[in-house]
Amino acid sequence: MAETMFDQTTILHAVHTKWAGKTVHFAEEVDSTNEWAKRLSREGEVHGALAVAEFQSAGKGRLGRKWTAPVGSSVMMSILLRPDFEPRLAPMLTIVMGLSAAQAVERMGIKACIKWPNDVVVSRKKICGILTEMSVKEGKIDYVVIGCGINVNLEALPEDIADKATSLCLETGKTYDRNKVLAKVLECFEGNYEQFEKTKDLTLLQEDYNRMLANYGQTVRVLDPLGAYEGIAYGINISGELLVEKADGERVCVGAGEVSVRGLYSYV
Ligand code: BTN
Repeated sequence: MAETMFDQTTILHAVHTKWAGKTVHFAEEVDSTNEWAKRLSREGEVHGALAVAEFQSAGKGRLGRKWTAPVGSSVMMSILLRPDFEPRLAPMLTIVMGLSAAQAVERMGIKACIKWPNDVVVSRKKICGILTEMSVKEGKIDYVVIGCGINVNLEALPEDIADKATSLCLETGKTYDRNKVLAKVLECFEGNYEQFEKTKDLTLLQEDYNRMLANYGQTVRVLDPLGAYEGIAYGINISGELLVEKADGERVCVGAGEVSVRGLYSYV
């Protein structure tokens, strides 16, 4: 059966939100939806506007990596936000999106968890990555762009990442309507963002996040540039830092900018 259309009109019909993704820009090909959303921001586009592409010629991952996905396989989207809170709070929005994407995957009946801070993981393999970028002008947030790439109908993965990545289709053998996947993420995100706005921290989302956290209560390895160490992960605090208890009982709050965290036996 041919896949449902994936375009601006079909996306707009699928998304049932108040503001997240109510304006949709769709392109068959773009450099990067994050870059596009930033350009749209400079042209005055509104809070909640969405840039979606079928193909990215210069898709960006975290840490300067590339993000590539074949036509028809993925949801690649970036939401433009114009929050009026302090710039130092914006990195928490990455966690808000990570939680939302994980919840959306679960709403499709697939058990998902979150590899701190924001990779969505199924069967111990990454299914979704998130890249947040921000611009600050005169001490205030000009825009935050949160890019989200979800492996949906990818049927095979390059050999070098086959043990670390997966897709919804590879997990269940089914083909998914990408409009619905995108809509579920945005619906979860809108609700979670509004919870975040109430307290300007993760107080109201912490419990949901920690319930989905991979390696909760288990030993993780913290790859700190000043020296790697191991400890037991006890979830995030209301700022999104990962609480890790070392063998000597010392409790460390690990910030996402500084380090990455691994399970002991796999990518997760
Ligand atoms: C990661 O490295 O895990 C983050 C990957 C983020 C990929 C998405 S795809 C849509 C958006 N546009 C980009 O260029 N990157 C993000």
